[in-house]
Amino acid sequence: MHREIRRRRTFAIISHPDAGKTTLTEKLLLYGGALGLAGSVTARKNQRSTASDWMELERQRGISVSSTVLQFDFRDHVLNLLDTPGHKDFSEDTYRVLTAVDSAVMVIDASKGIEAQTRKLFEVCRQSGVPILTFINKLDRPARDPLELMDELEEVLGISAFAANWPIGSGAAFSGVLDRRSGLLHHFERTPGGAFRAPVAVGSLEDPQVRAAFAPDVIDRAIGELELLDGASAPFDPERILAGELTPVYFGSAVRNFGVELLLDALVELAPPPKARRAGERVVKPDDPGFSAFVFKIQANMDPRHRDRLAFARICSGRFERGMPVFHTRTGDRVRLTSSHRVFGRERETVDEAFAGDVVGIVGRSDFQIGDTLAEDASLTIDRIPAFAPEHFAFLHGDGAAEQKRFSKGLTQLLQEGVVQSFLLERSGQRIPVLGAVGPLQFDVVRHRLESEYGATTRLEQSPWSAMAWIEGDPLDGSVDRQALDDLALPTGAALCRDRVGRYAILFEGAWSRDFFMQRKSSVTLSSTPTRV
Ligand code: G4P
Repeated sequence: MHREIRRRRTFAIISHPDAGKTTLTEKLLLYGGALGLAGSVTARKNQRSTASDWMELERQRGISVSSTVLQFDFRDHVLNLLDTPGHKDFSEDTYRVLTAVDSAVMVIDASKGIEAQTRKLFEVCRQSGVPILTFINKLDRPARDPLELMDELEEVLGISAFAANWPIGSGAAFSGVLDRRSGLLHHFERTPGGAFRAPVAVGSLEDPQVRAAFAPDVIDRAIGELELLDGASAPFDPERILAGELTPVYFGSAVRNFGVELLLDALVELAPPPKARRAGERVVKPDDPGFSAFVFKIQANMDPRHRDRLAFARICSGRFERGMPVFHTRTGDRVRLTSSHRVFGRERETVDEAFAGDVVGIVGRSDFQIGDTLAEDASLTIDRIPAFAPEHFAFLHGDGAAEQKRFSKGLTQLLQEGVVQSFLLERSGQRIPVLGAVGPLQFDVVRHRLESEYGATTRLEQSPWSAMAWIEGDPLDGSVDRQALDDLALPTGAALCRDRVGRYAILFEGAWSRDFFMQRKSSVTLSSTPTRV
């Protein structure tokens, strides 16, 4: 078991849309020998299969909505790549996926540098201490100066950067990289459409044959740049990489397969195996003998062939065996994990055995919620996934009384999946539900899915709020004083509400109004993120 866990690498790719995440995913699979799977990623993106209604939405919008998990082998290691939706409106989903990985690959478009979404996702990784490997992509096209890109990483993201390899040439002249640690030159050849591994010749700088493969002015320039870099950049330090303080940088072109193998080597060598997780006062180590996992994602009706609900659980410790009895520790129920799957894109395969670091998809458990722990030890609760503060709020109404039942059922299920969050407003003794989303497109997904999967048409009514803050303290243990809440002089337009676990929060008309209110002296303590889910 120890060996199995040590050879696992569980990671996600983060990027701004169009930087090349899908292409790189496909190429990692190509080099991982999972060609069939590589095809399935392309199919998902390019043919925009209309096999499911959900994918129909992806097709209409031209975005990737769903996340999947891809597992493949490379150099006697097992790589679990957790795919994340690229569109900014799905960042909430992406954030949750990032809680289930041990490292991340940040893809940057060499002509654009660091873009808004990259920066946001980078912050999430940094906050959770996830080590980051950087892949600067699209060097085969006119690109920005690589030295400038290195500077930008340090200045904009505030992380030290070590160029693990250096590009030789750019645009049409991009023909290889120099691996700085080994001192070896890698010369790549283009293949038609990048469908095959790029043939590569490797040799030292002194090797006349390999050196002759490059145009002399191009290689001289690269060496000159490296001399500048040697004096100025952070030194290689694997400990700092693991601490998330230093990012090793790889240059390449996903579409041409240039530099992809070196990135995979780096994942195996520098990215960490499954890490320990906190469970309150306890620390759950991956090779603890008892099995434990937490649910980080729920997806229903992914595919009409499987109209069911799939809970994705990341294994934190021990060994998983199909059919094993475990505790669903939130409810205390004993459950048998019989219907467990490995999910490749849209394909499923029954999984009989898995280890810490792996993700299993469990079908047919409507009681599982995001953040739940499944463990052999009934008293274990892995620390919860943080909820993200929504910035968009709306009321959703079901059209027509006849559809009310379907509307309620559908909405309940989508809320369990975490597609949007829900809050209850307290108004003149009445409780009115309001939905919250990090990005407004989440509302479209709810409406589309309610209609196509549950047959309920809906109407969305915008609300005046765009910011919120939670009131610290627990209403259940009495640490929130109800009288203090009633006495709060809220700003105009603000409203008191409760989230799905009963915590009090305030909705504001804008971030400025919230921040102003938070700075004022008040009888309650406010926080812009909930302390626990
Ligand atoms: P994303 O998942 O991050 O959104 O990006 P995706 O891989 O879909 O790539 C976005 C576009 O960038 C695609 O072009 C893709 O072919 C192109 N691309 C990705 N990597 C490279 C690279 O290394 N070099 C170059 N030159 N282009 C790259 P598209 O025109 O949107 O689609 P397609 O018709 O080319 O597939």
